[in-house]
Amino acid sequence: MNDDIVRKVKETAAYLKSQYESQAKVAIILGSGLGNFVQKINVEKEIPYTDIPHFPVSTVKGHSGKMLFGDLSGKKVVALSGRFHFYEGYTPEEVVFPVRVLKMLGVQTLLLSNAAGGVNEAFNVGDIMIINDHISFSAPNPLIGKNIDEWGTRFPDMSEPYKKGLIAKAQQIGARADMKLHEGVYFVVTGPTFETRAEYRLIKIVGADAVGMSTVQECIVANHMGMDVFAVSVITDLGIREEENVITHEEVLEAAHAAEPKLAYLFSELIKEL
Ligand code: HPA
Repeated sequence: MNDDIVRKVKETAAYLKSQYESQAKVAIILGSGLGNFVQKINVEKEIPYTDIPHFPVSTVKGHSGKMLFGDLSGKKVVALSGRFHFYEGYTPEEVVFPVRVLKMLGVQTLLLSNAAGGVNEAFNVGDIMIINDHISFSAPNPLIGKNIDEWGTRFPDMSEPYKKGLIAKAQQIGARADMKLHEGVYFVVTGPTFETRAEYRLIKIVGADAVGMSTVQECIVANHMGMDVFAVSVITDLGIREEENVITHEEVLEAAHAAEPKLAYLFSELIKEL
């Protein structure tokens, strides 16, 4: 079965190379409601997921589903607008498939974004949290199964899943622009339900600052393959609060859209410095 994954990833990469000679060393994966950021990219080639062999097709509202090659901040980048979530019914292998393809295309640094619920009481809707670590108890590890030795080791170290050097650069960028950037731990859940009040409390007690339904499986595979990962959460709702905490997907998308310019600024400036 893993031979099959290797074959498919290589076939997909070969197809993409036949469509566009990408020089990009940086890739960006955009989360729910954060897809407008791609407008910042001077796009040279756009490929809908539906045209890409072996690519799963995104089903969530707010995810348009295309791969873009172009320039951002004077650097060649490749962006995935629309990601695949475990809660949509994709297997962990499918969720991480694009990340493996990106590595085959020559990408070395992966920038990830997501919408997340705030758990740290100092957070407000619209804030940005740089992820400096994660806790993954519920979503299956995408490396379960026979190890693909040509891509990475059986037991990858995860002491620095999000590169400290990239976090430090991002913090400098934030300080220069007077932009408040939190740093914290991302707790991943499978979704698609938002958390119960008791679950939000538990997530807070175990030491997480934000909770969401993506990013971690991609981060694990990127680490396995030796890529550098930088990830941010846009806080779109607050899980820990006194009054009713009814959360809707619409509210999440709206808050993500509102915070998008900050994320765009941070990513653009960071890419300049890579
Ligand atoms: N929980 C989980 N995932 C999320 C949330 C949340 O509160 N907000 C946005 N994505």
